[in-house]
Amino acid sequence: MREQQDPESCYRLLARDAADQLEAYGGPLAGRVVVDIGGGPGWFTREFRARGAEAYLFEPDAAELGNAPGPGAVLADGYLLPLADGCADISFSSNVLEHVADPATFLSEQVRVTRPGGLIYVSFTNWYSPWGGHEWAPWHYLGADRARARYQRRTGRPAKHRLGENLFAVHVGATLRQVRARDDVEILAARSRYAPFLAGAIPRIPLLREVITWNLLLILRRCA
Ligand SMILES: C[S@@+](CC[C@H](N)C(=O)[O-])C[C@H]1O[C@@H](n2cnc3c(N)ncnc32)[C@H](O)[C@@H]1O
Repeated sequence: MREQQDPESCYRLLARDAADQLEAYGGPLAGRVVVDIGGGPGWFTREFRARGAEAYLFEPDAAELGNAPGPGAVLADGYLLPLADGCADISFSSNVLEHVADPATFLSEQVRVTRPGGLIYVSFTNWYSPWGGHEWAPWHYLGADRARARYQRRTGRPAKHRLGENLFAVHVGATLRQVRARDDVEILAARSRYAPFLAGAIPRIPLLREVITWNLLLILRRCA
């Protein structure tokens, strides 16, 4: 909830949590090749490196990368990564899926660059989450146009996100069905990313999961 006022603490905490999750399922990050796709300014990449990983940041928006992206940062789109098949031990995307028009293609590209046996970390804020409308949440429940207009009225500036342009309605149930239908990945974890308890149970409850999951975290293993 303090992301806007104190992004540094917020993203450090999230990056530590993501690295802990990856290590819980795949062992120490030290020595692993990790690709952080849509990594923004690189909070997560920095944490992976601090743990000894060989981490690279792929981000299509130069403004998001910022002025000091650091070594290993590449201006690249997640739909078409400049990477060979199976070159990464871990492919990672945090809160990117809801920002791409074609999440299935984005996910396929994550799978392609991950070696058999490697891990794929995907998390996204689903549309019916209380935070689904991002800066205009929770008014998105009344419709995106209305919520955006309200944001502009209240703040005097246009909202960053536009539904159908840089924010898309992605759902928990549909995403789980899509991932389960694939024969090239196995689901190791499907959980609410931020829930303090019942994190694994929440995404199993039809309908209710679309609201209370808040942010779905999937950890997948690439099959041979
Ligand atoms: C909400 S930010 C998330 C940044 C970071 N991963 C995090 O969790 O803090 C969404 C990011 O997705 C990136 N993005 C949007 N479309 C993308 C695409 N096609 N491929 C890769 N990244 C994309 C945006 O530029 C932005 O940096």
